[in-house]
Amino acid sequence: MTEGKADSTKAPYLPKTEPCEKSHVGHVVAVLSGKGGVGKSFTSCYLAVKLRRMGYKVGILDADITGPSVPFTFGVKGPVVGVGSYFYPIKSKTGIEIMSSNLLLPHDDDPIVWRGPMLSTLIEQFYTEVVWDVDFLLVDMPPGTGDVSLTVFQKMRLSSAILVTSPQGLVDLIVEKSAKMADMLSVPLLSLVENMAYVRCPDCGRRIDIYGKTDRDIAKKHGIPNFEEIPFDEKISSFVDKGMIEDLDVPYLDNTAKAIADAAKDEDIVK
Ligand SMILES: Nc1ncnc2c1ncn2[C@@H]1O[C@H](COP(=O)(O)OP(=O)(O)O)[C@@H](O)[C@H]1O
Ligand SMILES: [Mg+2]
Repeated sequence: MTEGKADSTKAPYLPKTEPCEKSHVGHVVAVLSGKGGVGKSFTSCYLAVKLRRMGYKVGILDADITGPSVPFTFGVKGPVVGVGSYFYPIKSKTGIEIMSSNLLLPHDDDPIVWRGPMLSTLIEQFYTEVVWDVDFLLVDMPPGTGDVSLTVFQKMRLSSAILVTSPQGLVDLIVEKSAKMADMLSVPLLSLVENMAYVRCPDCGRRIDIYGKTDRDIAKKHGIPNFEEIPFDEKISSFVDKGMIEDLDVPYLDNTAKAIADAAKDEDIVK
């Protein structure tokens, strides 16, 4: 392509903002979903737990400002500490750094009733004014393709994105839309996580596909290199509800955590 000529298939390029000079941020990975309630926050939080168990320094930026659930999932509370013009994230018991709008509120059941531009500004501040020290920063995105999602995609230097869906008739469309958005914004989709994909019969262990079977090739069809399924598992909801996700020990998301770590090694940023 000729230098300076715009590519009409890509979103306009905006200069990236950078984390503050006190921060160390290795790779930024966005966790997205086409709609709410599919387990995006669980996926962000448990990926953080898995990467931490692999020995990496990990942080979670809770970008779902009006539906923040990261602090609750880890059983941590604010307030965050501000020193000068910087804020320090709260650390979980295994040392995962967390920043969330809920850690700024006087009462954690207060709602945030703000307009889009203010939400986007806060997310930018979570990136530029928080002192992070992490190899991986996972961003728990709000569902869909609104203002805040665009801010994350255009302003942060994202290494990759993970897409979370649940099995349903629209899954192909949701994956297609997200794959197109990621392509327009030049961020590679690394893994497709299908959550609540099936249940196991508690008596005989047989797999039951309550929503029918999703085509296993759907990820490949959309150029996503990894596909992983997570069943309905009551251990997940009970550990999340108790704020004890760091004590949950199930094999889900191992492949996706490994894919994130391997992609980072390829780029030589994280050893
Ligand atoms: N595979 C699963 N099995 C059982 N419960 C799950 C599973 N995935 C998520 N949950 C529970 O479902 C609820 C919604 O998940 P959440 O991660 O908050 O969704 P989202 O962030 O997409 O809105 C939470 O209570 C969570 O603990
Ligand atoms: Mg959520």
